[in-house]
Amino acid sequence: MNINDLRSKFIAFYTERGHTHIPSASLVPQNDPTTLFTGSGMQPLVPYLLGESHPKGNRLVNSQKSFRAEDIEEVGDNRHTTFFEMLGNWSLGDYFKKEQLPWFFEFLTEIVGLDPTRLYVTVFIGDEKNNIPRDAESAGIWKELFDKKGIDAQEVLIGSEADGYAKGMQGGRIFYYEAKKNWWSRAGVPEKMPPGEPGGPDSEVFYDFGLPHDPRFGDECHPNCDCGRFMEIGNSVFMQYLKQSDGSFALLPKQNVDFGGGLERIAAAAAGDSDVFKTDVFWDVILLAEEFSGKKYENDAYRRSFRIVADHMRAATMMLGDGVRPSNTERGYILRRLIRRASQHAQKLGIAADKQEDSMLVRAAILVIEKYKRAYPELATEEAYEEITKEIWKEEVQFARTLNHGMREFEKIASSNISGEDAYMLFTTYGFPFEMTEELAKERGITVDRDGFKELMKKHSDLSRAGAEQKFKGGLADTSEKTTRLHTAHHLLLKALQQVLGPSVKQRGSNITQERLRIDFSYGQKMTPDQIAEAERIVNEKIAEALPVIRSTLPKEEAEKLGAEHEFGAKYPDMVSVYSIGPKNATSADARFDEAFSIEFCGGPHVENTADLAGTFKIQKEEAVASGIRRIKAIIVER
Ligand code: ALA
Repeated sequence: MNINDLRSKFIAFYTERGHTHIPSASLVPQNDPTTLFTGSGMQPLVPYLLGESHPKGNRLVNSQKSFRAEDIEEVGDNRHTTFFEMLGNWSLGDYFKKEQLPWFFEFLTEIVGLDPTRLYVTVFIGDEKNNIPRDAESAGIWKELFDKKGIDAQEVLIGSEADGYAKGMQGGRIFYYEAKKNWWSRAGVPEKMPPGEPGGPDSEVFYDFGLPHDPRFGDECHPNCDCGRFMEIGNSVFMQYLKQSDGSFALLPKQNVDFGGGLERIAAAAAGDSDVFKTDVFWDVILLAEEFSGKKYENDAYRRSFRIVADHMRAATMMLGDGVRPSNTERGYILRRLIRRASQHAQKLGIAADKQEDSMLVRAAILVIEKYKRAYPELATEEAYEEITKEIWKEEVQFARTLNHGMREFEKIASSNISGEDAYMLFTTYGFPFEMTEELAKERGITVDRDGFKELMKKHSDLSRAGAEQKFKGGLADTSEKTTRLHTAHHLLLKALQQVLGPSVKQRGSNITQERLRIDFSYGQKMTPDQIAEAERIVNEKIAEALPVIRSTLPKEEAEKLGAEHEFGAKYPDMVSVYSIGPKNATSADARFDEAFSIEFCGGPHVENTADLAGTFKIQKEEAVASGIRRIKAIIVER
């Protein structure tokens, strides 16, 4: 079964069961400032999981384009990919466990045709500390489903992953694991969830490829073992809890199902081959690379490079299709890295091109476009084709130039062992990949200080990640003058709300366009008309006072001590950017934090003075978005 067939079958299966097919959201999150890329099917649907009603109803089905940058370095084994399609079906306060698990089981066994004796499942063991019960209901449903197939499904209590490696299979079919494995929220386990975050127990299905256990991974095999015998193919999250500000868990107003299934992984299970790169999407590109290189995928020495080329070119093509362009910051930097890494591994396979028509990478992108354009129409236009192929070639050429410069620098330092600083300099100044430095060094019998290099990289990536977070956490649609003014108004409003409603008010989300600002904040009740009027009055007073808005860079601890507002769930580097508003005579050389009206961790941009807001601040709407979370929309009426 090829990827397009499998996707269509999944969508048809759920459409027949009353679900509406919704298109995939962009890889670039539209209303979620918390991540650079859409990394799961649930991200674009968070407001609906929290209780907002979805215009297409309570039963939805989709295939969501997803990208996880944290997996870039993992690519090379038989199953890790950066881009993937997550099949999803959704119950927004409609059906629950006793429909979800039987449907997915039916889909796998009847539609995909998987042998039920090869399926193993996991469920949540419960969490006494947080008062969250064991998911015996899901286990009971699974037991019955296997029973009907003549399989006596034994339940086994595992606990942690380490317990799994110690205890092993024990003849089990249904395995109970702790929250680390069988609980899902964007933030991870219950302890890590910030107030206002939804989550719940989940139940995963694993496919047994029947390979012998590899004891390098642990003494005994179990479904969550990484040895390659088992592969997770789908996860049903029972999104039913909301973390409260006192740390406890309350039931969400609606009980939801968030199912996520790995399309390529289900295809691999259907083919009975644990190598996802053998599925048609990748295989087409690998055959192309074999043809260009004259080398074989089956050759252990080259397989990793083939996989990296296939994964990265698919991810890069999908990103370009969603409007990302190579650059040195944020999303563009990740895209650049994908194309350059693919190019580097193509070179390792002996592939090079001197014009666009001969570029294997460009041809690979065309194969990806052809494969996906029916499911993702944004790839189907003439313009998309032109843009994607042009951008890839441009980047390939630029990278070749970079490598030339880097080679010259490398020659200068390669007379003795290479220090971490030199490898880092080659990478940051010349864009010369570390892997390349290592390989060339090896050829010449010299060493590279890998730890030193990694250390410097870590410092750098902490800084750039925080830069990205600060920018996107701001939730700005753009950086136009109007949006920037509303961004400054947003800071004034947060502080005004804390003055009116109390200091426990915290920001939980924000979104700012040229027309209006939107802030989500923690507060248990509807605001009274007086409170709304008072918050407006304070903001307008600060506009009238014409206070300077000052950016400072200071150590994180110092900013925390000043009581600067943090953004929700963010991690910050050692040095942070902070915006303070007021007092009247503050300057960037003398920020006078003690007397400031507002101080926030923020990457900007802002106006220079509150007088630049040039208008009257007005709250248009105050409403609930979830229990304990309110939302305000506000505008500036120009004078
Ligand atoms: N949201 C769930 C996941 O990403 C389905 O695994």
